[in-house]
Amino acid sequence: MNNKPIGVFDSGIGGLTVYKALKDKMPYESTIYLGDTARLPYGSKSAETIIKFSEENAQFLLNKKVKLIVIACNSSSSYAVAYLQNKLDIPVIGVIEPGAEEAVKYSKGKIGVVGTTATISSKAYEKAIIEKNPDIEIITRDCPLFVPLVEEGWIEHKVTKLVIEEYLLPLKEQGIDSLVLGCTHYPVLKDEISNIIGREIRLIDSGKTTAEKVYSILKNFAWLNNSKKQGEDEFYVSDFPERFRKVGEIFLKRNIEKVSIANI
Ligand code: DGL
Repeated sequence: MNNKPIGVFDSGIGGLTVYKALKDKMPYESTIYLGDTARLPYGSKSAETIIKFSEENAQFLLNKKVKLIVIACNSSSSYAVAYLQNKLDIPVIGVIEPGAEEAVKYSKGKIGVVGTTATISSKAYEKAIIEKNPDIEIITRDCPLFVPLVEEGWIEHKVTKLVIEEYLLPLKEQGIDSLVLGCTHYPVLKDEISNIIGREIRLIDSGKTTAEKVYSILKNFAWLNNSKKQGEDEFYVSDFPERFRKVGEIFLKRNIEKVSIANI
């Protein structure tokens, strides 16, 4: 198992925020990244559709012989994590639990949660947070325009600033002390969000905690790659590889040599 790659999937480039955290924590691990760009966004789809797409993505990664799958998408994690955990023989990690854990650790009582319409209507974060601390007040808001803005690479764009103000200032006014970025695309906008709502509101992004969880699972199974050489990464998308490469490079601040087409 040690030399096998970790599989990561999202609907698009959002999962790169989790991929980056995985590589920061485990540089010797190889990864296979899949962005289902042909069927993005997931956040406006039904539970049944999201489960179906997630299963197809997982199957693609299984064919690449991954040792563990990270569902680097909150919309998929909200609906498909238990389903895939029951179905597959390898560990499957979602991003909701780690995000909720991180939020509860820092909040003094009022947490904002933003995500896609699918994630917010699933109430997955509310359930996960309340389970850990029933006294916390949670205010949720879906922000469906963030994903297309990020996919378009409009990060420091005036339109994006207006959309952030529209979605997030009402949460600030309600006195939240932390804000869960419950969609893996949103951490790409972290600086712009903090500039608008203020640095005193802590932004919670599940990437780092998810990477820690993956690390401890691999360590417990003795599946970590001990080769001490930089892991290799393969990137796949179901459509528009060039656009993924361009926006992905802006976010990762490095070259992505090759993005291949995945026939899911
Ligand atoms: N990045 C994904 C998430 O975390 C999905 C965005 C979308 O496709 O709507 O929810």
